[in-house]
Amino acid sequence: MKKNRQPAEPYRIKSVESIRLINRKEREERIVQSKYNVFQLGADDIYIDLLTDSGTGAMSNRQWAALMLGDETYAGAASWKRFKATVQEIFGKQFVIPCHQGRSAENLMFSTILNKGDYVLNNTHFDTTRGNTQHKGGIPLDFPCAEANQPEPSPFKGNMDTSRLDEFIRKEGVDRVAMVIMTITNNSVGGQPVSMKNISETSDVCREHNIPFFFDCARFAENAYFIKRDEPGYADRSIPSIVTEMFEACDGVMMSAKKDGLANIGGFIALNDEQLYDRLTELMIIVEGFPTYGGLAGRDLDIISVGLKEVQDFDYLDFRIEQVEYFGQKIKEAGIPIVEPTGGHAVFVDAGKFLPHIPAEQYPAQALSVAFYIEGGIRVVEMGSIMFGGTDPNTGEKLIAPRELVRMALPRRVYTNSHLDFVAEAASKIEARKSSLTGYKITREAKFLRHFTCELEQLAPRSVEIGG
Ligand code: F0G
Repeated sequence: MKKNRQPAEPYRIKSVESIRLINRKEREERIVQSKYNVFQLGADDIYIDLLTDSGTGAMSNRQWAALMLGDETYAGAASWKRFKATVQEIFGKQFVIPCHQGRSAENLMFSTILNKGDYVLNNTHFDTTRGNTQHKGGIPLDFPCAEANQPEPSPFKGNMDTSRLDEFIRKEGVDRVAMVIMTITNNSVGGQPVSMKNISETSDVCREHNIPFFFDCARFAENAYFIKRDEPGYADRSIPSIVTEMFEACDGVMMSAKKDGLANIGGFIALNDEQLYDRLTELMIIVEGFPTYGGLAGRDLDIISVGLKEVQDFDYLDFRIEQVEYFGQKIKEAGIPIVEPTGGHAVFVDAGKFLPHIPAEQYPAQALSVAFYIEGGIRVVEMGSIMFGGTDPNTGEKLIAPRELVRMALPRRVYTNSHLDFVAEAASKIEARKSSLTGYKITREAKFLRHFTCELEQLAPRSVEIGG
């Protein structure tokens, strides 16, 4: 790919928000009060928040300006017309259903299409997609490619294993498969991208069996960037033209606009099947809102319309993906193993490998998450056997995640590299005392998405913490 890189951030800072590092003793108190669950910490407890890239980005001056143009008319607002036209243009689908966020799109979809025992097949479900499928009695199954869980770097680890997918459909029968979903980028395996070739092959499998093929496309622009950078034949293509080609392969999309919509809230479904659209709309009016606002304010719709275009700017994407790479390199230099290559929105640390003395049943990724908070007031998130393990709500089976990861997600346009250098310094200090980290056990948990609210107990007393 031709490089005409900007040397630094392709934006300057117009408004700032103060952050403060509380002292170590306070941090130790807060994490105990939070029952060792970082979701229970408050914003004031945190210095650098890498919990998620969802709804945590900074808006541009153009988005703030669009907010003032928001039309709050209940039915038929001008904001809705702009939103609908933007989504139709980018995603190439005729019918648009605004939703207040990604999981409400999932809820609408799975409430409408699933019968008990139906399968939903995905390259890898994100936790809310999995949770919503199970909640409606469906069975979510993952078909990640073989490279996804291997340590060697390869460019499209987010891909679907299309042979296994095809085999499964042939074995189980088309009638039991409600939908195939491609998650781009593939969050749960490390924000890893999916190639155009794989999108096209998956689409072929779905077309052959006449199964609806949808994208869970929260990070579609980041995925398009990787296709341009790493897939033969795409180096000279513009991001918008790659985006168009990606979406031509599917029947519809569910999107959380809190990521590549560059918005703090919002989402949508877009599709071409009018019958399904009608059924979704019936439910939507009951649970989300009138079809021209769907749980969002007019101003939110305008912010998303601007964000969906802005996010496809090459310089923005180039800086973003490079920043994630820079951060990953720093964490590696601190002696903590990461998933390679780094993906689109986060650095994923291999906590299972880093803390071999803590077994998966004692949640090594949770131990590392707590350590980051105590060391530097840094909030990261466990993506191991707390998030993906537990008891399967449909089968009662005990589950262990394929890998014990910690995700350090980068909010969009929020932190500079010096913030990230500070996190890397904290990583070095943790590395130096890693043998003192101990496991955890869950003392209280919910049936679905337990990681948000579960309470934990440390399994052995922590060794004395030094410093401040
Ligand atoms: N799909 C993917 C791939 C996601 O990453 C998310 C959210 C959703 C769907 C649900 O969207 O939050 O708007 O309801 N991911 C966030 C995260 C929460 O931290 O990765 P939502």
